[in-house]
Amino acid sequence: MKETLLEALQEAGSLIKEKFNTVFTIQHKDGINNLVTEVDQAAERLIARIIQDRYPGHGLVGEEYGTVSEQAHYKWIIDPIDGTVNYAHGIPLCGVSIGLLEGEELILGGVYNPMMDELFIAEKGGGAFLNGKAITVSSKQTFDNAFLVTGFPYHFPEHKDPLSTFHRLVRKGLPVRRLGSAALDLCWVACGRFDGFWEFNLNPWDIAAGYLLVQEAGGKVSDFSGNPYSIWDKETLATNGHIHEPLRQEIIGA
Ligand code: IPD
Ligand code: CA
Ligand code: CA
Repeated sequence: MKETLLEALQEAGSLIKEKFNTVFTIQHKDGINNLVTEVDQAAERLIARIIQDRYPGHGLVGEEYGTVSEQAHYKWIIDPIDGTVNYAHGIPLCGVSIGLLEGEELILGGVYNPMMDELFIAEKGGGAFLNGKAITVSSKQTFDNAFLVTGFPYHFPEHKDPLSTFHRLVRKGLPVRRLGSAALDLCWVACGRFDGFWEFNLNPWDIAAGYLLVQEAGGKVSDFSGNPYSIWDKETLATNGHIHEPLRQEIIGA
């Protein structure tokens, strides 16, 4: 299954790189700024074909083509391009993200940014790797100089303002980035570039692989109440562990 994961990431990554900055069709999904390109669709079909050829009994949960075999014991969670808006505008911050569930447990995850040729892989209990080298989260202990990243949903919830935390932290002088790819945000926490990431309203395909990467790199992932995390949750908080509680307090507005 790991070989299949690597093949799917590399094949889809090559396609995405080959089509980068070329002319392709772009459609709008729910809302004018939630985009899907023909490359997203072609990459998801390619990934599905690679997985189904090897494992016809496995299920798929893909962003563009939905769920296949929901009851299957093994399910592949696929985001063919995470960071589509960047990709559609010629910004090379994006990646293919694939996680594998065995029952409810994530056992494999990989994110590949073909433009930077960075391949992040994690295996449950086996550590996290960037281009074959073991990675760990940062060792930053102090929240006041934490380097953070976040993202904003396409649709804002009625009773929550995801911008309020961003606003408060920036006013306090903390460096906060918004890259536009939740999968890369998580990988960049896993390899210690960022100390923490939070976002509201993500989907399982945005986070499945990155969640396992952060865990296997020694970090912590929870919801905004500090509860153990599931990829089906709508609140994602991932950190190096040391700054988890102070960042969580900022998010809940305490
Ligand atoms: C999006 C990216 C972005 C996040 C959005 C996601 P997409 O995924 O991960 O960083 O802020 O909420 O939908 O649409 O590029 O696959
Ligand atoms: Ca995504
Ligand atoms: Ca996507």
